[in-house]
Amino acid sequence: MMGMVEMRDDEPTDAPAASVTAPLLPHVIVLFGATGDLARRKLLPGMLHLAEAGLLPDYRLVGVATEELSHDDFRALAREAVEEFGRAKVTDSSWHDFGRRLAYVPTSAGPAGLREQVLLHEKELGREARHLHYLSIPPTAAGPVVRMLAEADLVDRARIIMEKPFGRDLESARALNATVHQIFREDQVFRIDHFLGKEAAQNILAFRFANGLFEPIWNRDHIDHVQIDVPETLSVDGRAAFYEETGAYRDMVVTHLFQILAFIAMEPPTALEPKAISEEKNKVFRAMLPINPAHVVRGQYEGYRSTAGVDARSQTETFVALRADIDNWRWAGVPFFLRTGKQLAEGARIVSIAFREPPKSMFPAGSGVGTEGPDHLTFDLADSSKLSLSFYGKRPGPGMKLDKLSLQFALHETGREADVLEAYERLVHDAMVGDHTLFTSAEGIERLWEISRPVLSEPPVTLPYWSGSWGPVTIDDLIAPRSWRLPFRRGWRTPTA
Ligand code: BG6
Repeated sequence: MMGMVEMRDDEPTDAPAASVTAPLLPHVIVLFGATGDLARRKLLPGMLHLAEAGLLPDYRLVGVATEELSHDDFRALAREAVEEFGRAKVTDSSWHDFGRRLAYVPTSAGPAGLREQVLLHEKELGREARHLHYLSIPPTAAGPVVRMLAEADLVDRARIIMEKPFGRDLESARALNATVHQIFREDQVFRIDHFLGKEAAQNILAFRFANGLFEPIWNRDHIDHVQIDVPETLSVDGRAAFYEETGAYRDMVVTHLFQILAFIAMEPPTALEPKAISEEKNKVFRAMLPINPAHVVRGQYEGYRSTAGVDARSQTETFVALRADIDNWRWAGVPFFLRTGKQLAEGARIVSIAFREPPKSMFPAGSGVGTEGPDHLTFDLADSSKLSLSFYGKRPGPGMKLDKLSLQFALHETGREADVLEAYERLVHDAMVGDHTLFTSAEGIERLWEISRPVLSEPPVTLPYWSGSWGPVTIDDLIAPRSWRLPFRRGWRTPTA
């Protein structure tokens, strides 16, 4: 089966994918950073899965990286990657079809060598073939690669996906946007933030805007605070060079966590289309107050400095927790607490909305009301996502004792878990189709760097924390008198099939 849709260049770029119907044209996918961690873990397995799901058109994939590899070396690396990280078992026939489409060119071949390889493969696909350049490289390498594409004359029929973080700060993001715009039109550019490609993140939009139930209480009158908490158990092994120059704030907060914050905080967009969604997200970013360094806790796990490739006196944070404030009518006075870090006690991705407690309690002392915290709406953004609404209810039996109960829903209850596309797969497909809905905008990114300026220029000291903990102990002062939801006091119910 062929992929589904394609846009012509002269069509408005804010049209949602659903409005275009022609079949996808063949693509040469040029993957920069093809031997890197992301390519091996997500992009190569994702391409194979998309191909097997019938969502790719006829394609060739040219890997590009600094290593001097032959085509066969790259194919061997790719095979290992899809076997280790792919979702399904790789059969000889699925590998045969995928492997034969792969090629490799080292960066040392320069623009002429790159062009030669791409044109060679394009010839096999026919004259209509498009190019999709995926820049899975650190922000400092992005400008040079964009210029290399111009020198190789691979711009006209191309789209370009750019990985986060986009720049390192406001100045570098502006400079990178300026370089990109000298070479590509904005409608050719797809700035990726894979959290927005997660099924569960899109479900936040569905939940908020397809239902009338919660929107009337989605504001400062009814919501006490919000937590966006993404602890990870992973270390930075294998990507220390990238991490050392990036750190948790740039890697996770200014990217994924703020983008999720925008989905939670935005006003209803006028339509489910890129311009309308981007405008509402950007309004949230504009209303955010600069991050106050006094509201930021930075941490580094014990042992980080002995990782190969890490400076023995490194101040890079592997953990960050902070308070963000949105100064608009809907959210004034409602703190958003964000936390993420490596080598923590558990891996999770939750958004938790804490509702205000009732103004007065008629329940007798000792009834249990309020003892388990406020009512919460919790989105679990795990791959197998869940949702929970907790509330107090009467304990069966005599008298009036109250327990915290919850309504819960798990993705697999839809019976359609197998249809979920992994975030990168979804977004690569959207970029091929020309749909910008789930990508970030130049304006939004620049604004996020702008509000990050105080914390980037005067970062609080990096505090040590033990691997397997929840970060430096001062995170409790940051959120007091409230408390972090994780670790959960009551686990999720095991959903029944
Ligand atoms: C990436 C970060 O963008 O997101 C990683 O660079 C992080 O450091 C990862 O581990 C988390 O994404 P996910 O989808 O695995 O939760």
